[in-house]
Amino acid sequence: MVELSPSILSCDFSSLQEDLDATKGTRIKMIHIDVMDGVFVPNISFGFKIISDIRDKNDYFFDTHLMIVNPERYVDDFKKAGVDRLTIHYEASEDIKGAIDLIKKAGIEVGLSIKPKTDPKLILPLLKDLDLILVMSVEPGFGGQKFMEESIEKIKILREFIDSHKLKTKIQVDGGIKTDNVHKVIEAGADEVVAGSDVFAKDDIRGQINKYYEIFDQIK
Ligand code: DX5
Ligand code: ZN
Repeated sequence: MVELSPSILSCDFSSLQEDLDATKGTRIKMIHIDVMDGVFVPNISFGFKIISDIRDKNDYFFDTHLMIVNPERYVDDFKKAGVDRLTIHYEASEDIKGAIDLIKKAGIEVGLSIKPKTDPKLILPLLKDLDLILVMSVEPGFGGQKFMEESIEKIKILREFIDSHKLKTKIQVDGGIKTDNVHKVIEAGADEVVAGSDVFAKDDIRGQINKYYEIFDQIK
């Protein structure tokens, strides 16, 4: 079953919990939490305090996407803040294997993300150690950008490798996903789709999430 991971980056932070309450009673199991440091990407979002503040009030899997340099520095802090998975960027550390091991040792799930210009073949040898591979379908840094069609081919390459090697690694796609293009990434092999502006920037957050699950039901 495909899962939707709505990105809180598009929430109104002056009333973040109200936006999250609007998701209650839908079929979502996780929320996507985008952390940006202004160095790895040209934008700054939020950090541990916001995550730990929403932790107690929301019984979702905290799917956390770190767009920060040298993420290995902060694994313990994110774990303390209550995240369930840390997805780091392949391009963000000199010692990506070391960073992956550190996250595993912390007892949380580990994901690895690649920017649009990174060749997915580079990370194939790492897939067996990962819970998730995240294909960025926009340049990371901002919500509301246009989906890059080239991502479809990357998803297919990863799907083929994962299936042929009988791996359990999930494929997530993030950036520019809308109700009218989500079918393409699912048909290419995505297990999880992130949508920010197409969920939290909409007036009817609950209705929008329901639309995604109706599409998922039609495809599978
Ligand atoms: C972008 C973030 C995304 C962002 C997606 O760097 O990683 O998760 O919130 O936003 P939309 O769905 O609006 O492209
Ligand atoms: Zn993200």
